[in-house]
Amino acid sequence: MALKSLAVLACLIVLASSAVPKKGRKPANPPARVADDSETDAEITSSCPDDGFFADAEQCDKYYECRNGQIIEKLCPDGMVFNDYSPEEEKCDLPFNIDCSQRPKLQEPIPAEHCVRQNGYFSHEDPKECGKFYYCVDGKFNAITCPEGLVYNDKSGICTWADEAKKKGCGAADVFKFECPAVNETFALTHPRYADPDDCQFFYVCINGNTPRRSGCKLGQAFDDVSKKCEWARRVPECADWYKGQLTDAELDALENPPTPKPKPSGSSSRRKPMRPSKGKQIEE
Ligand SMILES: *[C@@H]1O[C@H](CO)[C@@H](O)[C@H](O)[C@H]1NC(C)=O
Repeated sequence: MALKSLAVLACLIVLASSAVPKKGRKPANPPARVADDSETDAEITSSCPDDGFFADAEQCDKYYECRNGQIIEKLCPDGMVFNDYSPEEEKCDLPFNIDCSQRPKLQEPIPAEHCVRQNGYFSHEDPKECGKFYYCVDGKFNAITCPEGLVYNDKSGICTWADEAKKKGCGAADVFKFECPAVNETFALTHPRYADPDDCQFFYVCINGNTPRRSGCKLGQAFDDVSKKCEWARRVPECADWYKGQLTDAELDALENPPTPKPKPSGSSSRRKPMRPSKGKQIEE
């Protein structure tokens, strides 16, 4: 009897010391089950205090599954890292929202065409292709281009403004053929806008007067450099013909005067319909 409680006590000590999250938490070798496996043994192992999924202490894409005291070492697909948000979930994700700073090691990359690793977002090989990148899934790539004027941002895996991406050779001045005119400090703080000299639909906002960001008006509109606003192109003298060949006058009319949306069939208090010439089918109320 005394011997048995001593054994249990020894187990508890092992358990307690393994629960301390020190650097060597890494259960590198599948731990031997505690020798004395009497009725108390279910959750007693040297490093698996609970069932579930646990991150490796050093390698972000390695984790362990603990099940009935058994420990199984596992690896995320190449390019993904273990999401240690909940021990109940076995989840590997792309690394953007997972903090790997405390466990920075990763498996040896398995590259494929345009893919540094089997999974993930990767910059274009040509650093001058600021807005192009690849999305790789199981080693198969998809080439993606950011919306015009945006730069692929390695750190976040999304397209962002050139000044935010801070990518070498992909600054605002490289991406846009536009330089913010020098202005005084007071005016700079209003983030002045300027028409894109090459495209009526677009304009530049100069953040703090010096960092250009390209922005656009709705289809059918043009940036009016006098009012500094988007306006129907046909009302902006220098852009009146901008959509010729792309949109007909009828299409422009429709954009400028969108048809009133139809009322919902039920529960609508107002049943007024837009009056449009429609072969007398419509009876006026
Ligand atoms: C700054 O520039 C704006 C626009 O050019 C001008 O209207 C304003 O008077 C200037 N302000 C000062 C303090 O110089």
